[in-house]
Amino acid sequence: MTAADNSTRKPTVEVLLESDWAAGSLVADVRRGLGTVPRSLPPKWLYDDHGSQLFDRITKLPEYYPFAREHEILTRHAADIAELSGATTLVELGSGTSEKTRMLLDAFDATGQLQRFCPVDVSEQTLRDAAAAVAGRHPGVEVEAIVGDFTLHLAHLPRGGRRMVAFLGGTIGNLYVEERRAFLGALADTLEPGDSLLLGTDLVKDADRLIAAYNDSEGVTAAFVRNSLTVVNRELGADFDLGDFSYVPFWDATMERMDLRLRAEVPQHVRVPGADLEIDLAAGEEIRVEISTKFRRHGIAEELGEAGFEVTRTFTDDAEDFALTLATKV
Ligand code: SAH
Ligand code: TRP
Repeated sequence: MTAADNSTRKPTVEVLLESDWAAGSLVADVRRGLGTVPRSLPPKWLYDDHGSQLFDRITKLPEYYPFAREHEILTRHAADIAELSGATTLVELGSGTSEKTRMLLDAFDATGQLQRFCPVDVSEQTLRDAAAAVAGRHPGVEVEAIVGDFTLHLAHLPRGGRRMVAFLGGTIGNLYVEERRAFLGALADTLEPGDSLLLGTDLVKDADRLIAAYNDSEGVTAAFVRNSLTVVNRELGADFDLGDFSYVPFWDATMERMDLRLRAEVPQHVRVPGADLEIDLAAGEEIRVEISTKFRRHGIAEELGEAGFEVTRTFTDDAEDFALTLATKV
């Protein structure tokens, strides 16, 4: 086939989420999270279409250093990563716009070894757009996108060939310790010895810089976190009044993670008919929307080791703000 024929090839999109997934899974999450004290909401509900657009703006904010640092590492080391992994299939979990992944794909183009790219995300429209963009730029690569949940669907990743799974953006830090362990274990189970994981993690640093990264002066991050309540209002007919909530990000030095919450400024009675739930929030009561764990190099190696991976190489930026760890399934 000529390159021209290939370039017209459309990406395939496999949808593993049920059509009522947003409603069904959201009901369960809202009952569990908002129905009990302390209140919480799982972060995957931040990324509806509007949330995905807000996140894209976050990555361009001067305070949000992780995106630029990870970008810097990939610019410098994408070729090393392509070579060390030897991958013929690149899977990307929580791929979003796949913007940084372009550097990896370009490096793989240079080696000619890559046959398949498989981005996985819960945000369907963002995924479809990203898959189409990659297919257009890399005509020799099959693009097989999966609309799925990386906490549920790892067993459905494509098999065959030498695989590398990229999990960038520090997204692993948004999982709780026990979820993280389960995730890494499930990922190791689905890979073959010799397959690899490329893991992006933000590193522990000065609290002021961390807080600024999650509390930008333009208020984009606050709008992003507040959008989780808009999702509950829209999907489950809830009557959260967004104006009554303030955004409270803080650094939890014991757990070494950012803790991002919404605080009810006045007492409120909230109805969530779609989840058959009514809740009373006291003035000052908080809903935890997201954590963002920060890591240390030895901790990353230890957790990967426990899950059945061995660190091949760790790449950092000059300031050692962020780490990209390439690990091999043993
Ligand atoms: N990898 C990109 C985007 C990170 S934002 C980057 O580094 O910039 C996190 C992405 O993960 C979003 O696109 C969101 O839709 C997706 N996501 C969050 N929870 C998910 C889940 N449980 N399963 C699949 N995708 C998820
Ligand atoms: N994975 C990103 C992080 O932990 C997600 C993120 C960036 C985020 N900014 C945010 C999540 C603001 C909630 C609020 O950095």
